[in-house]
Amino acid sequence: MIVHRSTDERDRAWWKEAVVYQIYPWSFNDSRGDGIGDLPGVREKVDYLHDLGVDVVWLTPVYDSPKVDNGYDIRDYRAILPEFGGLDDLHALLSDLHDRGMKLIMDLAVNHTSDEHEWFRAARKSRDNPYRDYYIWHPGEPGEPPNNWESHFGGSAWEYDQRTGEYYLHLYHHRQPDLNWANPDVRESIYEIMRWWLEEGIDGFRLDVINLLSKPREFPDGDPDSDWTGVKHFVDGPRIHDYFRGMRTEVFDHYDAMTVGEMPELTVESARKHVGEDGALDMAFQFEHVQLDYGEAGRWDIGEWTVPEFREVFTRWQEGLAGDGWNTLFLNNHDQPRSVSRFGDDDRYRAESAKLLATLLFTLRGTPFIYQGEEIGMTNAPFDRIEDIRDVDTRQHVDLLMAERGIDDYAELSDLVSYRSRDNARTPMQWSDDRAAGFTDGDPWITVNPNYTEINVERERADPDSVWHYYRELITLRDREPVLIYGDYELVSPDHDTVFAYRRTLDDRRALVALNVAPETATFRPPGDAPTDDADLLIGNYPADGSEDGAPVDDGPGNDPGVLSLRPYEARVYGL
Ligand code: NOJ
Repeated sequence: MIVHRSTDERDRAWWKEAVVYQIYPWSFNDSRGDGIGDLPGVREKVDYLHDLGVDVVWLTPVYDSPKVDNGYDIRDYRAILPEFGGLDDLHALLSDLHDRGMKLIMDLAVNHTSDEHEWFRAARKSRDNPYRDYYIWHPGEPGEPPNNWESHFGGSAWEYDQRTGEYYLHLYHHRQPDLNWANPDVRESIYEIMRWWLEEGIDGFRLDVINLLSKPREFPDGDPDSDWTGVKHFVDGPRIHDYFRGMRTEVFDHYDAMTVGEMPELTVESARKHVGEDGALDMAFQFEHVQLDYGEAGRWDIGEWTVPEFREVFTRWQEGLAGDGWNTLFLNNHDQPRSVSRFGDDDRYRAESAKLLATLLFTLRGTPFIYQGEEIGMTNAPFDRIEDIRDVDTRQHVDLLMAERGIDDYAELSDLVSYRSRDNARTPMQWSDDRAAGFTDGDPWITVNPNYTEINVERERADPDSVWHYYRELITLRDREPVLIYGDYELVSPDHDTVFAYRRTLDDRRALVALNVAPETATFRPPGDAPTDDADLLIGNYPADGSEDGAPVDDGPGNDPGVLSLRPYEARVYGL
């Protein structure tokens, strides 16, 4: 990690300069042959990550869990899921990373626990159990939940508990009861867990759905027409700032830890409060750009997105968090379909568009997050058979959609699922063209994307023009060019149909990024003083000597040297 001396001391931070790599351990690398990835498997790939240039690894939950939501249902915050290994494996991984100057952040889900967590098992024993108030209970008759709030996975957010005759709240699966953050004992228990992990030596947290912690006590009904009924009431609920402040003063202020909050429905305005100078967290994940392809009926509907909308969302966030805020930059994670299949072209221009998206990721102002497999341009996978679906969210929604729409043949939904399902991100990492993509010697817990014979790490590393090498070059470039990390952002293509171009400026260094987000050639005239000479090209995703069809590079209409002619999905970064 490079520390840039030219930037104002107050603004610099290691987590701003870092490149983060997200590992979904289930699907990363299986060292034991049981078909499930594990921590020793991650250790085998630490050098791979180091070679790529990664600074920080984010592990999605590895805690002990009944695995209803692949570990986001935590049974014991201080133990490791046996399938993944033990605490000793986690410590060994941490040492491997630290030895190479890398860091590790853990994923902490504290909006809810598993229903098998000892707190919930106690809480549901009786209404007067001391742990009862660790969760959110509400009186009500069976079949008449306290309000109309929905679970993110579909259906009511309330589950009736037979034994004690009350409902409990679960914003996700009914086996993920929501913790009652209004109870100071809950808060102290969670702070203790956070401190415990930081004392174990980890370097920070990704905090799961952390803006949902506070719920209004009156439990008002939500708007039934919204994509997630009730969301307006439980996003940034009445006491959220108190809870964040508590985390900060009780925990984060005492460690040099990186904190990034996952925040559904986050707006720029609210992000400024959570991550600005007075905010509790360093960064937050927002989701506006990955909702552009939602249809009229929401997430489980496919909509059209346009380049101007795409550009507008990124620009709004870049401008909105200029100053003391800081963006997270991501296009993929374990909940999202593969970006090259959504915002690029996963067929003819797969490599070009994957590289274009990577260029965006590493040249905007913020911390880039790579999701496993993104660095080789992994694509969505076909889910033609209902029995291949593993994700609880997809399964529940398929059931609901079939019931709602009166469908009895899954084939009618398979295109939608193959486009939208979180399983697209969860197919095994494609290491080689060996059986099961080199992920496991056993039977993988989820299907391998059949394109692994073409798209795999071994092949990508052997080809100097590959997506993988382009990621590595971009990481090196960002490390070398402080303007790409700290520079101010300015949009310079506000009206173009397909070109997203911006300038970054830091002191007397400038960079111009031009991205043609389309399968056709486009011309674009950058602002007057912008560099367009090949000598100033810092990186581009086409060979510099001509296009695939032999067209020259820089002569737009009338051979005007001030006009860039950008080939399909061409990306260029100039420095001046
Ligand atoms: C967000 C996580 O990213 C997702 O995978 C999980 O299902 C929900 N939060 C519930 O924890």
